[in-house]
Amino acid sequence: MIYRNFFSIKYDDNARPSNTGCADKVAPVIPKANSFSNLMEVITMKKQALLAITIAITGMSPAIQAGDAAAGKTKSAACAGCHGANGIAGNKNYPNLAGQNEGYLIKATKDYRDGNRKDPMMASFVKGLSDADIANLSTYYSSLK
Ligand code: HEC
Repeated sequence: MIYRNFFSIKYDDNARPSNTGCADKVAPVIPKANSFSNLMEVITMKKQALLAITIAITGMSPAIQAGDAAAGKTKSAACAGCHGANGIAGNKNYPNLAGQNEGYLIKATKDYRDGNRKDPMMASFVKGLSDADIANLSTYYSSLK
């Protein structure tokens, strides 16, 4: 007799090594979708996985939520000395921030503030910034060309 399981793997009862006396242990243990409820269980699992992924993605979005560019521009006065009034650094040893990806700017600035990225120059300028300040600054700099 041929069994067909849900993953379309066929195996033949007669092909089992019957002389071992332990045919059940030898046979592959793969669930058979021989009932409707079994199939529904698989579909439900897939739906739950999709839901989890959707939640993970939408849950992450506040991290790159647009800040207030005007407020960011005001705050950027403290950064202009090194990163330039328009986000283009005058000193070639300093990075340009204009047009950089917003999410990256947020992460980089928070990393300096929280000590996960260390630079003595940056540390003192970002230590007093709130998450909102950082979002605003990042929106502003990323909007520059
Ligand atoms: C005294 C000079 C100076 C000032 C002022 C300054 N920075 Fe910086 N900034 C630097 C230097 C130097 C680096 C590169 C440090 C490194 O190598 O990690 C840097 C790096 C950065 C980076 C990472 C860039 C990248 O491409 O990885 C960001 C974001 C940043 N600064 C934002 C700011 C913000 C926002 C302010 C104002 C609140 C500011 N900086 C003020 C000197 C300065």
